[in-house]
Amino acid sequence: MVLSTGYNKIRTAIFISGTGSNLKSLIKFSKTNKSPISVDLIVSNNPKAKGLYYAKKYKIKKKILNFKDKNSSENKLFSILKVNNIKMICLAGFMKILSKNFIKKFNGKILNIHPSLLPKYRGLNTHERVLNNKEKYSGCTVHFVNSKLDSGKIILQKKVKITKNETNDSLAKKILVQEHKIYPKAILKIFNL
Ligand code: GRF
Repeated sequence: MVLSTGYNKIRTAIFISGTGSNLKSLIKFSKTNKSPISVDLIVSNNPKAKGLYYAKKYKIKKKILNFKDKNSSENKLFSILKVNNIKMICLAGFMKILSKNFIKKFNGKILNIHPSLLPKYRGLNTHERVLNNKEKYSGCTVHFVNSKLDSGKIILQKKVKITKNETNDSLAKKILVQEHKIYPKAILKIFNL
């Protein structure tokens, strides 16, 4: 990655839409000495996202944009990111698709976490599809974001075994535990730490 960590941590924004358990794990990681990032902004398209609670808890700036008009929301977002000197973006359960134009402006500096072993099962309802296909394994992937959905360069993956009576919920929970571990690890990896 072209960013240099230097002395100061890389100012990072986390984009969420829901629970924010990955957000929480990234905030905790960011507070450790080994973390090359600081979490300085939380962005949500959903004013009711549970994860917004962490903005209050950890005194992090938050911004809610509804993305109904994607163009104008992204323009606003871009200036907010600039003003806050944000250099990196981590998508963590963010349910909106960013435009090619926006991604281009932050080229190579947006990461995402996806609950499958990409390139398998891009898109939504991954656990359901994995179970319907009677897969033996699933997992999660941290990857760079490019203009194609869930298709950017893979940084790190973790495989989990699917058990006999696996349900959507049990699989989601099992994978989420691994997500919380690999997102920070992937960040260390891109900075060669
Ligand atoms: C995670 O499973 C992530 O992989 C997917 O959305 C979920 C978000 O969970 N993109 P949380 O909001 O981080 O708890």
